[in-house]
Amino acid sequence: MKKPHLVVLTGAGISAESGLGTFRGAGGLWEGYDIMEVASIEGWHQNPQKVLEFYNFRRAAALKAQPNAGHQTLAELEALFEVSIITQNVDTLHERAGSSRVIHLHGRLDQVRSSVNPNDISDWPGDLLWGDVCAQGSQLRPHIVWFGEAVPEYDHARGIVQSADVFAVIGTSLQVYPAAGLVYEAGGATPKYLIDPEPVPVAGLQALTTIRATASAGVPEMRRLLNAWLAENR
Ligand code: OAD
Repeated sequence: MKKPHLVVLTGAGISAESGLGTFRGAGGLWEGYDIMEVASIEGWHQNPQKVLEFYNFRRAAALKAQPNAGHQTLAELEALFEVSIITQNVDTLHERAGSSRVIHLHGRLDQVRSSVNPNDISDWPGDLLWGDVCAQGSQLRPHIVWFGEAVPEYDHARGIVQSADVFAVIGTSLQVYPAAGLVYEAGGATPKYLIDPEPVPVAGLQALTTIRATASAGVPEMRRLLNAWLAENR
C-alpha cells in the first residue's frame, strides 16, 4: 500500500539542540551580527570578505555538529511515510540523519556557487576565501539565498506542501517570507503539527495540533500521535 505523504517544514530550532544557534530571540545569531551586512546581496557587494568570514565560521560549526533526536526521528519516519523535508536550514543535519528527500529553501553551507552563474554550484567543505574563483574566473560565493534574492526552490516546495497528507512545522519563527507562507499551502483538512517550545503565529490554520516542546522531545511525541493517526486511517 502507498505510504501517506508527510511533509515537514523545518527551521533553525530543529538544529538548536545540535549546538547551532537560532537567529531570533535572546542569544540568537542576529543579536551578534547585522543581518543586512552578512546575509544580504547588498552586504555581499559592500564587504564580501566580512560575508565570507561569517559563512566560514558557520560552515565549520555546521560540519562539527551532529544530528539530534529531532532529525533522527524524522529520518526513521520514512519507514511509515513518504517523507519530504523542506528546510530553511543551511546545515545538512537532515541528510546526515538519513532523510532521503530534503529541499533546501535557503541554500547549503557546504556548497558554493559562481557569483555570475547561479547554476554553477559545487561542493565546498572548507573555508571559502576572497580570490577563490569559478571555472570562468569569477569570485565564488556561498550557495546561500540572501535577503534581497529570489528563492528558486519555492514553487517546487509549494507543490510538495499542497500534496501533503500530513504536514508538520518544526522550529521556525515563521518570520521570513516566502518560506513562512508555505504553512498556508497545505489543505484545510490536512492534519498539521507544530513543534516549538515558544508560541508561533499561525492564525487561522485548521486541523492543527501544537506540541510545545523542543525538537528532540517534540518529534518523538509527534511520531506517537502519527502512529495513532495511521492506525485510524489505514
Ligand atoms: P528563527 O531563529 O527565526 O526561529 C527559530 C525557532 O526555533 C523559534 O520559533 C524558536 O522558538 C524555536 N526553537 C528554539 N529552540 C528550539 C528547539 N530546541 N527545538 C525546536 N524549536 C526551537 O529561525 P528560522 O525561523 O529558521 O534565513 O529563521 C528563518 C530564516 O531567517 C533563516 O533561514 C535565515 C534567517 O535569517 C537566511 O539567512 C536567508
